Amino acid sequence: MRRFLFILCCTALLSAQTLRQAGAQRALLIGAAADATDANPDPLVKEPLYASTLETQYSMLEPENAMKWASIHPAQTRYNFQPGDELVAFAQAHQMQTRGHNLCWWSYNPAWVTNLAATATPATMASVFQDHINTVVTHYKGQVFAWDVVNEALSDSQPAGGIALKDSIWYNQPGIGATGTGYVEQAFRWAHAADPNALLFYNEYSVEAPGAKFNAMLAMVKDFVARGVPINGVGLQMHIGITGSPSSAGLAQNIQQLTALGLQVHITEMDVKLPVDSSGVASAADLQSQAQTYQRILTVCLQNPGCTAFQTWGFTDKHSWIPGSYPGFGAALPFDASYQAKPAVASMIGAMQTVPPVLNAAALVNAASYKGGAVAPGELVTLFQANYGPGSLVGAQLDSNGLVSSNLAGTQMFFDGIAAPSIYALAGQVSAVVPYGVSSKQQTVVQYEYNGVLSNTATLPVVPSAPAIFALDASGSGPGIVLNQDLSLNTSSNPAAGGSVIAVLATGGGTVQGGATDGALAPGAGNQTLPVTATIGNVTETAVYAGPAPGEVNGVMQVNLTVPTGLTGAQPLILIVGGVSSQSGITVAIK
Ligand code: XIL
Repeated sequence: MRRFLFILCCTALLSAQTLRQAGAQRALLIGAAADATDANPDPLVKEPLYASTLETQYSMLEPENAMKWASIHPAQTRYNFQPGDELVAFAQAHQMQTRGHNLCWWSYNPAWVTNLAATATPATMASVFQDHINTVVTHYKGQVFAWDVVNEALSDSQPAGGIALKDSIWYNQPGIGATGTGYVEQAFRWAHAADPNALLFYNEYSVEAPGAKFNAMLAMVKDFVARGVPINGVGLQMHIGITGSPSSAGLAQNIQQLTALGLQVHITEMDVKLPVDSSGVASAADLQSQAQTYQRILTVCLQNPGCTAFQTWGFTDKHSWIPGSYPGFGAALPFDASYQAKPAVASMIGAMQTVPPVLNAAALVNAASYKGGAVAPGELVTLFQANYGPGSLVGAQLDSNGLVSSNLAGTQMFFDGIAAPSIYALAGQVSAVVPYGVSSKQQTVVQYEYNGVLSNTATLPVVPSAPAIFALDASGSGPGIVLNQDLSLNTSSNPAAGGSVIAVLATGGGTVQGGATDGALAPGAGNQTLPVTATIGNVTETAVYAGPAPGEVNGVMQVNLTVPTGLTGAQPLILIVGGVSSQSGITVAIK
């Protein structure tokens, strides 16, 4: 019996995660290009292992060909959405995201459009281009979360300091009548008009390592960002081998330069081709090198929270473009032709379980106002981009002492080594209460941890107060969380009367007279140490009460105020704690 229990324990501890599960803990989409009825035979339908591997191992799919021009728009007046729809339906049935590929490419165009280009005017090409983008993006509106809007627009050789574009029917043969990168820009504008919520990507190859082609791409997207062209990200294709692949430092530098512009980066088409024998078999040593290459590239992605998706170009060696396009090479994907995991799968999961999460000081903000920069004792803060944590939301829990626990499913945040009471934890977003012990300090060293893996540290200034009022919709502005005198929620349809007393919920009020225990639920009294006043409309009010909110975790501040008479409607509400004002944009409804 003992022995049996022992086995149970350790099998559970070592139980292998899937790529998808490991990715969920990194707030990272793990994707694969997939085939549907545009391939013959249709593996999604004909091969149970294709479908089951795809849905258990991946959280995102991208049609390998089904949404390209030649597949989806085979005749000028005919669209064929069926294969794309099949993939979208599969993704939705398995809670996966669909990434759209692509709306514009120099290759894979249907004969009718290349024939048309031989004689058409740029104006005709522009209208065909717009119709296509609008029709396809509209068809998948709300279903495709991100599009490769333009694929491979850049030349392989670039002039120093300039941007050279590849010849194509959309650029210059005859083109749509735009100069320079204008056709790329136009495609983004039309895609955005058709689905303003879709993330729009520029996708390119041979831009993973620093060099002239990367510089040209960076210049193009930098210009787009500066001029407000609707672009959200860049896709790095990553078709590589075990030799000559980009260095970790070079790739990290490129990703950093892109994310510094506010763009996301997706690794979109990774495969690692190996020399194979006539039966398509690679050597065991090469498979190990391949595993290391996958691990190395994924590690660089994990080291920058702006790298938000990691996708391979297919997932099984049974269906891969490599043998056909690179004779003598193959075995490029994480699963073999029988759908067995190759060494790459374990190495990728290993990277996701061990690469330290990133703590970006700029992403640690007040939980009510989302303002960052400095922290106050007792402030509820949210750390965004926390790229290691539970794959689904874990809410606050009380420990055996009745205190709000500082450890939620293995997630902890530390200030000068003191574990902070946790409000919630989710990969990508962790919230906690700044311990009161920082009040004696000028600055505090912040760090967080998941499953025993520590992030880097960041040092933040400590301020006596950083007040912010909670917004009703958690957006940081609009109607505040305010209770009317009868304890009902203040809303535009339930406004407070002039002369009545309201209770405003806020955080960042600093210390409490007599001290407050970290993580304790507040009793019904106590007072902030710093003076608290407020303005409602243009009327200044002194607080009737300003202290811990009864029943809430210490750090949530309640401020009771008398509603001025003579004001009606949504009035601006500001708290002033120790001379520091809460965020603007919060309102209270008055009748
Ligand atoms: C390839 C597909 O894998 C093939 O099946 C097809 O015949 C040609 O296109 N870069 C891209 C992808 O952006 O769309 C390409 O996909 C591979 C190179």
